[in-house]
Amino acid sequence: MSVNIVKPFPARQRKVVDRNHTRESRDRRGTHSGLLAGRKGLVFGIANDRSIACQIARSCLDEGAVCAFPFLPGEKSERRVRQAVAGLRIEDPWLLACDVTKESDLDDAISAAGERFGTIDFVVHSIAYADRTYLRPGRFADTPRDVFAQALDISAYSLVAVARRAKAIMPDGGSIVAMSYYGSEKVIPGYNVMGVAKAALEASARYLAAELGESGIRVNTLSAGPIRTLSSAAVSGIDEILERAPQKAPLRRNIDGADVGKTAVYLVSDLSSGVTGENLYVDAGLNILGL
Ligand SMILES: NC(=O)c1ccc[n+]([C@@H]2O[C@H](COP(=O)([O-])OP(=O)(O)OC[C@H]3O[C@@H](n4cnc5c(N)ncnc54)[C@H](O)[C@@H]3O)[C@@H](O)[C@H]2O)c1
Repeated sequence: MSVNIVKPFPARQRKVVDRNHTRESRDRRGTHSGLLAGRKGLVFGIANDRSIACQIARSCLDEGAVCAFPFLPGEKSERRVRQAVAGLRIEDPWLLACDVTKESDLDDAISAAGERFGTIDFVVHSIAYADRTYLRPGRFADTPRDVFAQALDISAYSLVAVARRAKAIMPDGGSIVAMSYYGSEKVIPGYNVMGVAKAALEASARYLAAELGESGIRVNTLSAGPIRTLSSAAVSGIDEILERAPQKAPLRRNIDGADVGKTAVYLVSDLSSGVTGENLYVDAGLNILGL
C-alpha cells in the first residue's frame, strides 16, 4: 500500500495571491467567482512543472477549483511533483501517491478523496507510459507482448479503473477528461505502441461516456498537439515534430500548456454541459490537414 496522504486538505483551498496573475477572478468579498468556483477535482499526472497536468491544474485553480494531485510514487518523482505543485502557489496542497497499475493504490486514493472532499466534480487523467526503446521509427513490429500490455494498462485501462471508482464519489454527476494525441488515428513515426494505447483510451472514453451518462457523468478526451514534456521526450522524432508543426498548422504555431488548460476548463465546467464521448483537438488545427 503506497497511498500517502501528505497533508490534510482544508475545506476551502486558497490560492496564494499573485499580484501579477491577471486571469484570477475574484469578487469584492474575495470569494472566487470563476467558472469552477466550488468545484473539487482530482488531477492525475503531474510529474514536473512541464507536465500537461500541471498546466491544466493551474487553469482549473485560476477558475476557483479545489484540486488534489495523485502522483506516481517514488522518491525522485515525489520531489519533482512537490516542486511543481509548490509552483501552483496553493495553500496546503494535497498530494496522493498512486500507481495506477495497483488496484489497492486506486482504491485508497479514491476513498481518501471521498473522505476529504465528500464528493468530487471532475477528474483529469493525464497519464501515459511506454518503454521508450520501442518509441522509435521502424520499431513498432518489434514491440514485445509485455511492453504492449504495460503501455495499454497504464495509458488506457487506467482511465476505466479510475472512472469506475470516481463514479462512487460523483453522485451529482461530473466530468472526466483524459489526454490523447493524434497518433491514435494516424501513423506518427516513432509514436508506435502509444498510438495504439491512445486509440484504446479514446474508445474507452466513448464506452465510459455511454455508460456513465445516466449518472450525469461526462467523459471526453482532449487531443493535444505536441508539447515538450518528460513523456514526449521519450518519443524519438519529437524535435522534428515540434519543428514541423508550426510550419504546417493553420494557426502557424505550436500549442502551449495554457491552450490545453483553457480547453480542459471548458470540458470540466458547465460550459460543456451537453458534450460527452467526444475527442476535442487542441492542436492549432493540425489534424484537419490532408497534406
Ligand atoms: N506532451 C505532448 O506532446 C502530448 C501530446 C498529446 C497528449 N499527451 C498526453 O498528455 C498526458 C500527460 O503527458 P505529459 O506530456 O504531460 O508528460 P508527463 O511525463 O509530464 O506526464 C505523464 C504522467 O504519467 C504519469 N504516470 C506514468 N505511469 C504512471 C503510473 N503507473 N501511475 C501513475 N502515474 C503514472 C507520470 O508520473 C507523469 O506524471 C499523457 O497522456 C500524454 O500521452 C502529451
